[in-house]
Amino acid sequence: MSKDPVEIKREETPPKERIGIMGGSFNPIHSRHLDLAVSALKEGRLTRVLFLPTGNPPHKKEGLAPAEDRFEMTRLALIGKPLFTASRIELDRSGTIYTLDTLLLLKKQFPFAELFYIIGEDTLLDLPNWHQPDEVFALCHFLVSRRLSDNAAIPSMRQELEVRGARFTFLSLAPMDISSTDIRQSLSQGLEPNGLMPQVMEYIRIMGLYGVPASPPRAASFYPTLRSALSDKRLLHSLLVAHTARELAQIHGEDPDAAALAGLLHDCAKCLPLLELKRIAQEQHLLLDEETLASQSLLHGPVGAELTKTRYGIDDPNILSAIGCHTVGKVGMLPLDMILYLADKIEPSRTLYPALLEVRALAREDLVAGMNRMLQSTMEYVTTQKTALHPSTQRVADWLARLTPQESKRSEAHE
Ligand SMILES: [Fe+2]
Ligand SMILES: [Fe+2]
Repeated sequence: MSKDPVEIKREETPPKERIGIMGGSFNPIHSRHLDLAVSALKEGRLTRVLFLPTGNPPHKKEGLAPAEDRFEMTRLALIGKPLFTASRIELDRSGTIYTLDTLLLLKKQFPFAELFYIIGEDTLLDLPNWHQPDEVFALCHFLVSRRLSDNAAIPSMRQELEVRGARFTFLSLAPMDISSTDIRQSLSQGLEPNGLMPQVMEYIRIMGLYGVPASPPRAASFYPTLRSALSDKRLLHSLLVAHTARELAQIHGEDPDAAALAGLLHDCAKCLPLLELKRIAQEQHLLLDEETLASQSLLHGPVGAELTKTRYGIDDPNILSAIGCHTVGKVGMLPLDMILYLADKIEPSRTLYPALLEVRALAREDLVAGMNRMLQSTMEYVTTQKTALHPSTQRVADWLARLTPQESKRSEAHE
């Protein structure tokens, strides 16, 4: 049966994009920014949201992190959120940047899209002072978030601007007391503030931003190399493993810097194809069993330890050992080996598997108990999948099961 022409036409017209725009310094980005974007996405029926960190101002501004760092933190906070993207549109321009120019550039980039500028109530009051506000009103719709205190001037200003053609939708998101200023203040006092995503916290530590001591040592210099060696998803995972390993090291009296370094670099070879991993293993004369040599998901551990030494210049044997055995473990694992092995399996972005919550709790109480439960979970999984368990995993499980409580304590205290 032939289709109704009107129906055909409707199918051929692509749905109009509704793009939300979040401007700001993102100094640093925090959970309130994301909550606002989610609220705008739902209530504004947006198809996506662009985050536009501002560039470096012409004169140095006290407390403002460099633009590239603010952009990278924004990018890291949005990995795994396909409807949110960090845009360089304000970053790569110099001089005074007017919202009108940004909107005109976006209109050129997305000629068929409707633009929705996401602002706070305080910005609404400032709109008449913007550069050519009436032009701005013609180009975008405003999605407005409420602030903590009720400002009596808002309804009258809204009315006044609507007469001039401005279009406003107020978001229902409850006002909340999280601000970048408070976050920066907590950071400078040595605290880990609520509302900061762990990957952003780890980046702040690596680069030593906002008065936080740079840690782990040398990570700031190798970060660009690591970033280009990993996919975004793998980079996020690595930062989260570093964050978790650092926390476990603090709990169990181990070196937090060594744990964070091992976490950051543990998957540095993970994005290499198997052939390349084999070539490096052969070139470096790594003594490995056939099963490890045949598997990308096993071989990236020992090859990663090799690259950590040769490419990233880290020669601490404890860090190299932890990275080398993070895929299958080894008999006689030391606390740092266990910390990395567990952090890799329990970092916050891990999708739920049956033993996850239990392993998370045990890893904080007792590393050997956490390892035991994790290996038991691996063995259960292998049985249900009807695949073979790596012989090393079985040996580690047997070794752990034989450890007496005293021995397990000694193992924790660097036997
Ligand atoms: Fe790995
Ligand atoms: Fe990993």
